[in-house]
Amino acid sequence: MTTGAVRPAVLVTRRIPSPAIERIVERCELDYHDSPDPIAREELLGRVKGTLGVLVQSSERVDEEFLAAGPELRVVSTFGVGYDHIDVPLCTSRGVLVGNTPEVLTEATAELTWALILAAARRLGEGERLIRSGESWHVWPLFMLGIGLNGKALGVVGFGRIGRAVARRASVFGMRVLYHSRRRAPSEVEEALGAEYRDLDRLLNESDVVTLHVSLGPESRHLIDARRLASMKPTGVLVNACRGAVVDEAALVEALRERRILAAALDVFEREPEVHPGLLELQNVVLTPHIGSATIEARTAMALLAAENLIEGVEGRRPSCLVNPVAWEALTPRASG
Ligand code: DGY
Repeated sequence: MTTGAVRPAVLVTRRIPSPAIERIVERCELDYHDSPDPIAREELLGRVKGTLGVLVQSSERVDEEFLAAGPELRVVSTFGVGYDHIDVPLCTSRGVLVGNTPEVLTEATAELTWALILAAARRLGEGERLIRSGESWHVWPLFMLGIGLNGKALGVVGFGRIGRAVARRASVFGMRVLYHSRRRAPSEVEEALGAEYRDLDRLLNESDVVTLHVSLGPESRHLIDARRLASMKPTGVLVNACRGAVVDEAALVEALRERRILAAALDVFEREPEVHPGLLELQNVVLTPHIGSATIEARTAMALLAAENLIEGVEGRRPSCLVNPVAWEALTPRASG
């Protein structure tokens, strides 16, 4: 396909694992922003011009302006499972395919979620800060008490792949699982995971640890607001490793400051990479820099899948992981012809 023929022009907007770059250059003419830093918006808009495909990160907004800058685009392949940074309906209406990378990051994100749960419950961040501060410390019976997990209830909000992978690990810690999602899971899934369905308010009220695994959209923005934080137990822990804007950060700061909940652990923030200054002042919150899928294994697999989606899209094939199948159906005559 590529020998002698014009190779499709593509843009990769940030440094990604090299096996994926090697794969892309086998098939495409690559323009590579080979840097750990995000590409400046103006530069991005200039470089997307004339490309058939672009591999983006969650920090790049794919909106009207972006699509207007790249009128020849056939595919936008995002490095990640979430696509709230992409105007998917607009892409669909313009015949632009959107690819993402589900499944390959599920276990890594579930593992990080448990790291956050344990860190918040047992005050790991606080303990580390204390030791690094050089302050003197000694063990005594009331020193740095956290909460135990055994026998407690884990409330999983959002019961897709990642929510279920988190739930699957709960029995190891002796926790029972409650869950909430827009659609109730099939009874065999509930049974296999020992998970009981609850409406959201009841879940918040009954759970000792609440962990969020929903995608971000208008219906989930500030899903956890001041009212819902108030329905959590005062000994409750809130964990967020999905999208920052699912939680009203200002309301969370208040709840943590006033000890209306015990603790929180956040891997994601409303205005990344900014973090609400109130959070930085609090001891009872664990903060990590959006590293849910940051394992060598997951990031390599994500890169390869994002590269495959990109190549398939620019070569007129259906991307393996396609967010907008409607766009493909509309394009099929062009793609197969
Ligand atoms: C995802 O896959 O959506 C991660 O959060 C990276 O943005």
